[in-house]
Amino acid sequence: MTPTIFVTRRLPEGAMQVLEDTFEVLCNPHDRVLTREELLAGVKGKDGILPLLTDRIDEEVLDAAGSQLKIVANYAVGYNNIDLSACSKRRIPATNTPGVLTDTTADLAMALLLAVARKVVPADSYARSGKYQGWAPLLFLGTDVHHKTLGLMGLGRIGFAVAKRAAGFDMNILYHDSMRQDPGLEEEVGAKFVSKSALLSQSDFVSLHVPLTPETHHLISGPELALMKSSAYLINTSRGEVLDEKALVKALQLGQVAGAGLDVFEFEPAIEKELTSMDNVVIVPHIASASIETRTKMGLLAAENLISVLIEGRRPPNCLNPEIFT
Ligand code: DGY
Repeated sequence: MTPTIFVTRRLPEGAMQVLEDTFEVLCNPHDRVLTREELLAGVKGKDGILPLLTDRIDEEVLDAAGSQLKIVANYAVGYNNIDLSACSKRRIPATNTPGVLTDTTADLAMALLLAVARKVVPADSYARSGKYQGWAPLLFLGTDVHHKTLGLMGLGRIGFAVAKRAAGFDMNILYHDSMRQDPGLEEEVGAKFVSKSALLSQSDFVSLHVPLTPETHHLISGPELALMKSSAYLINTSRGEVLDEKALVKALQLGQVAGAGLDVFEFEPAIEKELTSMDNVVIVPHIASASIETRTKMGLLAAENLISVLIEGRRPPNCLNPEIFT
């Protein structure tokens, strides 16, 4: 019998086609996040679930799915939306989509950094508004990016890809992480391991690249922002909860930091109101992995994880709880 899966939001066609050719697919018919009730109803009786980071997969959802559920294949590299221990308790593998979105996410981190430093967004609005009267020496003076210091909180796959891009801008690269990276990797991009406080106080740009865990929740809050240079910018493409958003508003209002580039928000999709009226903040709606190529690859990788369990009966390639197989 063809295995059944529940896909919580329509994915790019290339990925949907593989899923629909392989499985009996029930897909969210709406162009919006499912309500909790819709999610609970959709998973019922399925062999596999393909959720997004907007779907909380916990005991209640796993219970609603029923005992034939064999895999939760998340459509994201981050998996803080999944209760891994609840999956493990039921010996259900949970998977994510690492690797395929690394470069695309790093591109957007650089785009935010460049945009906020060079005032691209307000300058664009100004030029469109008809206010432009001719070249002027003081018009939209930003700050240089090249030869400045970039502090990366986290030098995993995405942090490293940002470091590679920053090296191309002749930036001086500092990083902090729970563990020091392989010296060979450090050398490849010229990244120097420093303490968290040294990174915050020495960087002209601080970019966050850590997963959301209990340890990284509010990794950057009031005291950390106070350590930053008043001329420095904060970039967040990781998870909103890594940054205390109210503390950021305060630091911006006090001039403790110069600006921010944000892709993710603490209470997503809500955004602190004050941020939306600040010219020195660039805000995009969680689109770091949003290229057609990458979103398709993420879907194909989720499909590969589903196929390995539901069709081939083997351990999925991107298993987050491999201990259930031992
Ligand atoms: C992820 O994959 O975790 C991103 O936040 C969305 O692509």
